Amino acid sequence: MHLPSQMDPNPWVQFQKWYTDAVQAKIQNPEAMTLATANLKGIPSARIMLFKGVELGGLTFYTNYRSRKSKELESNPRAAVIFYWPALNRQLRIEGKIKKVPPSNSDEYWNTRPRESRLNALISPQSSLISGRKELEEKLEIITEKFQNKEIPRPAHWGGYVLIPHRFEFWLADPYRLHDRFCYVQKLKKWRIVQLAP
Ligand SMILES: Cc1cc2nc3c(=O)[nH]c(=O)nc-3n(C[C@H](O)[C@H](O)[C@H](O)COP(=O)(O)O)c2cc1C
Repeated sequence: MHLPSQMDPNPWVQFQKWYTDAVQAKIQNPEAMTLATANLKGIPSARIMLFKGVELGGLTFYTNYRSRKSKELESNPRAAVIFYWPALNRQLRIEGKIKKVPPSNSDEYWNTRPRESRLNALISPQSSLISGRKELEEKLEIITEKFQNKEIPRPAHWGGYVLIPHRFEFWLADPYRLHDRFCYVQKLKKWRIVQLAP
């Protein structure tokens, strides 16, 4: 059993604590989070993304701006993410609005990526139909040749988003299913912790 008083009043501090615990527990891919989006008809879709840091007032992640998720986020800039760390028996849900990160942030992250990953991002029309892997391999060969011994610039269709939360929920498992759920909600820019039934 946990008490609301054991949670930090600031959800970002609490987030950092849990994320650090997950990293220190040597969980595989502690930064993997499920990102849920919805199109304008309200039809949802979800996929795993890698969380890249807390900056610009939220959580950042990087992707192809022409992908299915990006089309959904452009028309409906709201999203939810979930981290699940089974080894710690913890789930973390975050909901909020979405903004594109400034191009300079995307450039900065792009430049940290391995050369191969940058080339792959250049040639992959993420979420589009392809005839098969051969199509990608052919494109990769051409582009690898083109950029031999050259810098690989970030294409305009690849970059980051930031999820600016208005709600966090920290969930801790109880062996007999009386789990603890601490929810941070914002009122007049101040965070308040409320507790939900499991
Ligand atoms: C562990 C893991 C991490 C992933 N990280 C990313 C990521 O950071 N960015 C990304 O675009 N896709 C990532 N993917 C692939 C996505 O889950 C997804 O297949 C892709 O983004 C296309 O999604 P969409 O068609 O809904 O836009 C990751 C997949 C896994 C399993």
